[in-house]
Formats: sequence, structure tokens, C-alpha cells
Amino acid sequence: MKLFYASASPFARKVVVAAREAGVIDRIEIISTTVSPVARNEDLIAANPTGKIPTMVLEDGRVVFDSRVICEYIDGLSDNIKLFPTHPDTRLAALTLQALGDAMMDAAVLARYEGFMRPEEFQWNEWVEGQKNKLESSLDYLESRAMDVLEGPITIGHIAVACALAYIEFRGVLDNWRASHDELAKWYTSFSQRDSMKATEPS
Ligand code: BEZ
Repeated sequence: MKLFYASASPFARKVVVAAREAGVIDRIEIISTTVSPVARNEDLIAANPTGKIPTMVLEDGRVVFDSRVICEYIDGLSDNIKLFPTHPDTRLAALTLQALGDAMMDAAVLARYEGFMRPEEFQWNEWVEGQKNKLESSLDYLESRAMDVLEGPITIGHIAVACALAYIEFRGVLDNWRASHDELAKWYTSFSQRDSMKATEPS
């Protein structure tokens, strides 16, 4: 299988962390891919019309996207742990946590792109603040309402939240979120020590 990938993309990182945790990383050929919201990557668009990474191409030519679908596919290949639990309650908790992590990635990437990609004269500060507000309330939610799930066995939700937090720090989207979110910061420090996270640090 081939994976269109960029190390800076938190969504692509989520897939590779999941593949490492699931023990199937050796079956995946990583294709380093340059993406931009304003420039077409024809090789990628030939596979995925939205031109987004991560995109996976299977041996038989089938194409799988987005990160949620790829991660679920990878999980199905694994003889290891299950990142998508089967029990309805734990599955719901994992999927909801994944949705929160993914939404945090969306907000962080939008905030980053507004400052980094858009010409200065068109930049909209309220837009950036709106994205940062979403991140702040998500961090508060994780700290006050999700620590019991985060402290349980690893699921796709844990990976999504960790990759979102890593991206926020990598791109400096928020100033020192750790100071006001003690429990989450402790959990993230520990999760970041996993081999799967250390092997996928963005460059
Ligand atoms: C980034 O460089 O921040 C980035 C790259 C790809 C996807 C999303 C973000």
C-alpha cells in the first residue's frame, strides 16, 4: 500500500502513528508529498480529487481517504490491539475523542494557514482568534471531561488528540496551553514518549 504523506500534517501523522501501533507500518510505502491549498499536486489529485493528505492507495488500486477511513482500514489489518474498540460504549468514546482531535487539527491548521499562507493585507485576525477559541474550549473540555477516557487503553481517539496537541506546539498556534491544562499536559508528555510518536516527529 502507498500512503501520500507529509510529516507536518497532523492528519497524516495520525495515520502513521496508528499504523505503527497496529503493527502494520511495514506494509506501507510512504510517499512524501507536497501539498498547498493554492497549488495542485497532480499525482495526488489523480488518486484523490480533493488533493488532500493522507490518501492511501491499496495494492489492487482502490483509494482510501480520509484519515478516519484509512485508520479504520489499518485497524482491520492488525492482529495487535484494536484502536477502534468493538464494545458500543468504548467505541463511542473512542470515535467521539477522535472527532474532537480531528476538529482541533482543523482549527489549528486553519489558524496556521491564515497567518502563514494568506497575504498579510488579507489576513483576518478575528478568524484566527475564532480558531484559537475553539482550541481553548477543546483543551478545557479534555482537561475537565475526558481525562478518564484518555487515561484508559489507547484508541484512535488518543492518537488523534496527541497528534493535534503536537501540531499546536509544532506550529506555535497557542501560547503555552500546558500551563492551564495540567492533567492533559501530563498525559500528553507521557503519550509523546511512545515509539510511534517519537518516530513520527515532524521535521
Ligand atoms: C503544515 O505545514 O503545517 C501542514 C502541512 C500539511 C497539512 C497540514 C499542515
